[in-house]
Amino acid sequence: MSAQMSLVVVFFSLHVLLASGLKELRVRPGQAATLQCWGPRDAHITLLEWSRPELISQGYVFFFQDQRSYENYQHESFKGRVQLRDSSMMDGDVTVIVRNVRVSDTGIYKCEITTSSTRNDKRVVSEFKHSINLTVTDTGFTEGESKERGHKDGGDKNLSFFNFVLILSCGLLGVMVIVTVAVNIYRKKSF
Ligand SMILES: *[C@@H]1O[C@H](CO)[C@@H](O)[C@H](O)[C@H]1NC(C)=O
Repeated sequence: MSAQMSLVVVFFSLHVLLASGLKELRVRPGQAATLQCWGPRDAHITLLEWSRPELISQGYVFFFQDQRSYENYQHESFKGRVQLRDSSMMDGDVTVIVRNVRVSDTGIYKCEITTSSTRNDKRVVSEFKHSINLTVTDTGFTEGESKERGHKDGGDKNLSFFNFVLILSCGLLGVMVIVTVAVNIYRKKSF
């Protein structure tokens, strides 16, 4: 395998890992869960759907269309508990806060955004998707982890995992390059 090939393989693996990465969030019962999601900064958000795919037949976690949210499209168990973190959705922030979470709120939360913008006098409609794996539990928090921590953001775990993968990939890449160079030198010598 050539060095360039090794490079491609490493970065492809890294990309797949990031693309398939489901954001993990762990929150204690009774707390608020901040489900983070971002759309593009400069497009008008026409539709925002927060859902739990397995409950979608009974309604959304949060539904927003044409400047307002619709409680009548909401699943019974989420009524009165969910609000946008930033009601103006500034810079594409469509994060919602679910208050007073229960163990039964554990599951996958899907954020789907439809935006509309104008480019060269043409209307451009785009869609964005992002999912979060929420676990509501009293266990599994590391000692000394403050109660606030889980509720603020579950991102730290992902970030350190990302760093781990990055370091591992770079290490692997280094080894592959050294091996390739060594093999080439060896081949040249033996001719
Ligand atoms: C969601 O997280 C839980 C607990 O960490 C895990 O057991 C489960 O497999 C995750 N689900 C998915 C679809 O990744």
